[in-house]
Amino acid sequence: MSPLFKTITDKIAQQGSLSVAEYMELCLSHPEHGYYRKADPFGARGDFVTAPEISQIFGEMLGVWAAEMWRQMGCPPLRLVELGPGRGTLMADALRATAKQTGFHESLTVHMVETSPVLANAQYHALRHVHPRIEWLDDVDEVPEGTAIFLANEFFDALPIKQMVMTDSGIAERRIVLNAQGALEFTLGPVGLSLAKSGQKIPVGTVMEQHPSARRIMRTITTRLAEQGGGLLVIDYGYLGEAHHDTLQAVKNHAFHPVLSDPGDADITAHVDFLSLATIAADAGLAVAPLATQAEFLTNMGGDVRLKMLLHRADEDQKKNLAEGYARLTSKEAMGELFKVLAVSSHAPIVGWEDYSHLP
Ligand SMILES: C[S@@+](CC[C@H](N)C(=O)[O-])C[C@H]1O[C@@H](n2cnc3c(N)ncnc32)[C@H](O)[C@@H]1O
Repeated sequence: MSPLFKTITDKIAQQGSLSVAEYMELCLSHPEHGYYRKADPFGARGDFVTAPEISQIFGEMLGVWAAEMWRQMGCPPLRLVELGPGRGTLMADALRATAKQTGFHESLTVHMVETSPVLANAQYHALRHVHPRIEWLDDVDEVPEGTAIFLANEFFDALPIKQMVMTDSGIAERRIVLNAQGALEFTLGPVGLSLAKSGQKIPVGTVMEQHPSARRIMRTITTRLAEQGGGLLVIDYGYLGEAHHDTLQAVKNHAFHPVLSDPGDADITAHVDFLSLATIAADAGLAVAPLATQAEFLTNMGGDVRLKMLLHRADEDQKKNLAEGYARLTSKEAMGELFKVLAVSSHAPIVGWEDYSHLP
């Protein structure tokens, strides 16, 4: 029995059951046995690969976005904040790509918001020679005051969600118990309120997701952006509108894995509710750009041009890797449309979205 499985079953014995949010939190962030706390899950030998690990152009274009936004804001002293920075590759590429932007690096303090000591260590090694002012923080609340640009790639999908299920007699929370065979399984909690949206009955069996942690973090960031200035770029898989289906998923060794098997040894995520994040930003009084696909954003930021420049000076092997990597980020069949980009800012127009005409 894995140590985390024991922690989970002990908690179920005490409380009767666990919410999906409690389960996700324990699996990902348990101080000793949580998925992100104990090992580096990235790369061919890990469980998954993220955009910055696929192509340097991803981090470079995010860096260019931050530098251009900074220029548009009048070049203030800036806090460049990354949420859930993985191996530090995105920030290293972003800083390298902006090294020649006059005054940008001099105005920067970099803040890495990371809960995993293993990944914070990898980030330190990736960045220690890249910029003189970098600090690591556990929580977004700890970012000191000032104009700030926040970058979050595949961060919001790792935050715990709650799941509700429509039953014959009303809505019940989806919870986790131990079955007679000693395995974890889903069950339903007590039935609460009945819910109808726009006068329409929600079909029995519909799963609805709530994102309390994502909403809290989004409120913290957007409130400070409205007061102190700056912007936020969120890149993730998710939906605009209501999902009304179960998006909870686990990944291990680059393949989907049963969510309740091997707690702490598989990555668990849920799709991001972009409408709810965008609404929080708009309610705070910020400019919100129309949701773009990753392919649209990278193209608008000059990713295609950057690829051509890199290809020009590459050898044959490098050319193949560069072209394949960028195609993976932008093609419809891979990440180009699945991943979406939400940009919000205290200053409009938002860089990359000056031409809104072709965006959804
Ligand atoms: C899927 S990884 C994405 C990594 C990176 N952004 C990339 O694109 O390669 C999720 C990251 O979020 C971090 N993380 C998860 N929950 C967190 C939390 N509540 N606060 C801060 N970081 C968190 C993980 O340790 C990891 O660095």
